[in-house]
Amino acid sequence: MVVSARVEASQIGSDILAKGGNAFDAMVATEMALAVTYPFAGNLGGGGFMVYRKSNGDVGGIDYREKAPLSGHKDMYLDSLGKVIPDMSTKGATAVGVPGTIAGIFEVHEKFGSLSMEELLAPVIALAEKGVVVTENQANRFENYRESILEVNDGITSFPIGCKAGDTLKYPVLANTLRRISKEGRDGFYKGETAKILSNFIQEKGGFITEEDLAKYEAKWRQPIIFNYKDLKIISMSPPSSGGVTINQIFKMMEPYDIAEFGHNSAKTIQLFTEASRRAYADRNYFLGDPDFVEIPLDVLLSQSYLMERMENFSFDSATKSADVSHGEIEILESMETTHYSIIDAEGNAISVTTTLNGAYGSKLYCDELGFFLNNEMDDFSAKPGVPNMFGLIGADANSIAPEKRMLSSMTPTIVEKDGQLYMVVGTPGGSTIITAVAQTILNTYEFNMSMQESVNAPVFIINGYRIWSFSNPKGFRTHSKKN
Ligand code: DON
Repeated sequence: MVVSARVEASQIGSDILAKGGNAFDAMVATEMALAVTYPFAGNLGGGGFMVYRKSNGDVGGIDYREKAPLSGHKDMYLDSLGKVIPDMSTKGATAVGVPGTIAGIFEVHEKFGSLSMEELLAPVIALAEKGVVVTENQANRFENYRESILEVNDGITSFPIGCKAGDTLKYPVLANTLRRISKEGRDGFYKGETAKILSNFIQEKGGFITEEDLAKYEAKWRQPIIFNYKDLKIISMSPPSSGGVTINQIFKMMEPYDIAEFGHNSAKTIQLFTEASRRAYADRNYFLGDPDFVEIPLDVLLSQSYLMERMENFSFDSATKSADVSHGEIEILESMETTHYSIIDAEGNAISVTTTLNGAYGSKLYCDELGFFLNNEMDDFSAKPGVPNMFGLIGADANSIAPEKRMLSSMTPTIVEKDGQLYMVVGTPGGSTIITAVAQTILNTYEFNMSMQESVNAPVFIINGYRIWSFSNPKGFRTHSKKN
């Protein structure tokens, strides 16, 4: 089974499974197929994280998050007065981090793949050449982002933003780039012609990425965060994603309470969840960053005694934020500029992947010669302690910029076991709200006995900084939607 944001990408992934490929082979094909069919978030110019659980119970994770360029430094987005320069970390070439996706798929393939890379990429290349039909949603997105894409690309782009629903879009340039990768391996992206074109292009547009940055990029295997919540075992992504640590803290702070008894989205459940999340996000923003650069006191942050101590001042009687909870009428749509997909093969190997360009179409910078968008992931760093990024997240030194450092993420690809068996594969877009949306989806299924689809469709409440909104999720973007 393959579930992703585009039926064409899911089809390519499940064809690989039908051909005898395993979940990891299907991951490679699906990730690249999303780059073709869902350029809003699917990517060659971005990065992501994958958590896996093999049928024998082995678990692991891979980090193919973008990195700061070698020339990156703490104050790179500040002016001479020490103020954050508007748009510099969010729009155009200056916002681009060194892409990790291609390194990620090659690592996964080398370790677990069973079919050849050529076989996996062939249907993706064929699809890019044959073309993809534009959906209604996609046409709306093109419409919404046309102006900003044109602005970043100096008024001209070969990306077909003028097309309408029902048109067939062909991507011959992207097909060529993919062909080079298929033939030359990861060096077909990080070295040689592609790397030269890409680094020259980014620098011409005022950005910082060099051929050396690309050549030095490596994806990394990471031990996931694993914890128990009642009789579930939850396996989620470790730093440089904050997802696993933060979800672990939230669940452990809630565990002593019988929220099934309180009821789904009851005031008590929301109050408890909010207070646990408030404490977990405060730790996230202060302690978490790239573990290759900062010491993260995980033992303490995840210990039972520390978490119980954090909740000592929690009381149902002092609902200090209940006024905010009552602002629940505001309808906002879950932003979904990232994308998640989940795959399970016939043997029961499962993978959970969240991948992104960060914003919609990333930095909006589109490389005509290579056929893809570049990320604006540099905005996930803390440009200045105390100043919020585009998702309202405030960071500290642990997430300051340094050469080759990875920016902190909220992406939370997660796998859940119950009684030693695979129970759920889950993840979502949503920036700073990813962690709490994944947590609520797991709770909906486990505590409130909903099916996966009901869990995804149920209203969630969003905790962002100190505000709480509740909203309905009519399109079911959490986990993934087949409707896109
Ligand atoms: O890694 C992160 O946390 C963000 N770059 C994710 C961005 C995202 O989910 C955008 N969609 N709303």
